[in-house]
Amino acid sequence: MSRLEVAEAFGGITFPGHLHTQESLQLALKFPFQDTDVLIVSYPKSGTTWMQQIVTLITSRGDPRVSQTAPNWARAPWLEHHYSAALLDALSQPRMITTHLPHRMLAEALRGAKTKVIYVSRNPKDVLVSFYHFHKMANFLPDAGSFQEFFNTFLDGTVHFGSWFDHVKGWTSQLGAMPNLLHVTYEELSMDLKGSIVKVSSFLQRPLVEDEVNSCVRYCSFSSMKDNQMINCSLVPPEILDHSKGAFMRRGKVGDWRNTLTDEQNERFESVLAEKLPVCSLEFVWQLDIEQHRDTKSYRTKVSAWSARQE
Ligand code: A3P
Repeated sequence: MSRLEVAEAFGGITFPGHLHTQESLQLALKFPFQDTDVLIVSYPKSGTTWMQQIVTLITSRGDPRVSQTAPNWARAPWLEHHYSAALLDALSQPRMITTHLPHRMLAEALRGAKTKVIYVSRNPKDVLVSFYHFHKMANFLPDAGSFQEFFNTFLDGTVHFGSWFDHVKGWTSQLGAMPNLLHVTYEELSMDLKGSIVKVSSFLQRPLVEDEVNSCVRYCSFSSMKDNQMINCSLVPPEILDHSKGAFMRRGKVGDWRNTLTDEQNERFESVLAEKLPVCSLEFVWQLDIEQHRDTKSYRTKVSAWSARQE
């Protein structure tokens, strides 16, 4: 089933028909989560694959063999993809499952479950740039057009997978309400991979010894993952991912958006951010001073304000 040109409209969002069907999306909404499941949630290009690798390595106590022999989409299948049902059935406990669905679509299925949920977010300007490059190589995504055109659709939230703003608001507004929800940012992973691995292993109640943590760090590095065929998408046929137009493991940098966005685009982005993510209690560190490894700017958002407005 290639359906490269098909878009599935579902719940007000369009999804690539190559990966999704109405049936697979409906099934995801009713998925019987188990308490032992680990669910990795993200908007595309936010560090999903990185977190899949981290959880894989933590589960194997730093042993890289599973991550070198099983592709990430089989180790941590996407809940909503049409080909995942058989893969999910074949997973051993604890199951690692991935999703790009917004919280509103999974709220019912997750209600009452003790599933551990890891939400990964990233500076949306870096998501935008990464997503734009991915559109150029992914033949199952619409033609991105010029960067300016893609920029507009991203800010409008009419890109495939829906609005970044709604996705982040929906999931992070559950922090505190969902007891088993951990929020990890791409920037945290970049700034302190070792500390982040320890934090995730502790959340998963799988403490590791120093050597195991060091092994996780080694196999979760950008260079190691870029060379791993089970992760770098090089096994995906060129008619689906055109490898001549880019690399899935592209740059792996914080703040790469500065090489693409003009000052004018940055100002427009900031004004949309200010409008859609009002000020306060949740703090994202989105820009790092790479040399000194300290924050130069953070953006605060008010989760309680979103929750109030959503009700
Ligand atoms: P770039 O396109 O900016 O390089 P996702 O897995 O959600 O699709 O996200 C893909 C992005 O995460 C890509 O970003 C990819 O390079 C980056 N990434 C994946 N593994 C990484 C790692 N170990 N270190 C840094 N970035 C990583």
